[in-house]
Amino acid sequence: MATRRQFVRRVASAGAGVAAGVAVPGGWLEGAPAVHARQVRPVAISSANGLRAVARAMEVLEGGGEPVEAVVSGVNIVELDPEDTSVGYGGLPNYEGVVQLDASVMNGPTRGAGAVAALEGIKTPSRVALAVMRYTDHVLLVGEGAQRFAVSMGFKVEDLLTEKARERWLEWRAGLNPDDDYLEPKESGDRVERFPVSGAAEPGMLDSYDGERPWGTINCNAIDRDGNLAGVTTTSGLAFKLPGRVGDSPLVGAGLYVDNDVGACGSTGRGEAVINVCGSHTVVELMRAGMSPQDAALEGLRRILRWTVEKRLLDEQGRPAFNVNFYALNKRGETGGAALWPGSRFAVSVDGEARLEDAAYLFER
Ligand code: GLY
Repeated sequence: MATRRQFVRRVASAGAGVAAGVAVPGGWLEGAPAVHARQVRPVAISSANGLRAVARAMEVLEGGGEPVEAVVSGVNIVELDPEDTSVGYGGLPNYEGVVQLDASVMNGPTRGAGAVAALEGIKTPSRVALAVMRYTDHVLLVGEGAQRFAVSMGFKVEDLLTEKARERWLEWRAGLNPDDDYLEPKESGDRVERFPVSGAAEPGMLDSYDGERPWGTINCNAIDRDGNLAGVTTTSGLAFKLPGRVGDSPLVGAGLYVDNDVGACGSTGRGEAVINVCGSHTVVELMRAGMSPQDAALEGLRRILRWTVEKRLLDEQGRPAFNVNFYALNKRGETGGAALWPGSRFAVSVDGEARLEDAAYLFER
């Protein structure tokens, strides 16, 4: 019987055969890529909260770092920022006031993936996801097991709930039920400003659409000059979620997908909607079929539309009462972002400049 190491070596050499052009059954899904590129301009793309992330990712790429290290280094800045309440340290907690984090990474050249879900106490879940990819034979670790693995790899367990996030949770809890025993901290209208109906996870960052419970997240994808791709998505998930709820971010194919022959895509917004259509995988497959990143992202959103039939998820005009964003990058280094609703932006860094661009959208308000 083959040992695990022998098995891994055999699988790896089978992969080398594929790369060398050995005939592969399975048609276009496994066949030749739709996009061919030799040397490309390095580019990084992220959600709007990732302006610093894309700049950092480009620094790593320019210093000769690999794309997966570049994107993880980029999002680490946001994960460690206590002011960003959508990701990592300072993220909004779950129903019980506990911060639970989800993250995934994909490395194009090695076809590797790693992810963690419902991870507590570690400020940089994207780094733990990277460690799962690099140092285990698995793809996804969850909950207590993910934390124990992180500790074994030298990560420190810390309290991730900042005062700012705790206050928001207390306000939310007090507003849940007028008949329970929690009193409103203050009778003012500013709760609506904090969680605007337009759905900003942070002022100016239109990311969700349900008024009081943002799905802030950061996705970052990059390509180096050899055309190698990587991506990462990391989040504290839906604010005040049920304990144990896992969104799209740590699920390969949902909140993130990278195919080194074609492109990369990640998502922010209502994770349940993205999971239902394997959103990021769908967008990458549409790029493989020849669509531009923006058109593929819009088509991925149309897929979500067709899957959104339950009345509770629709507004009075029958349109989704939430938002989803896709951020796509193809093998040529072209980028595109799209959302269900207007107002979303995304960050791009190319040729030494990091900037925000307006996302395409499906609906007018
Ligand atoms: N897209 C983030 C989440 O739903 O958790």
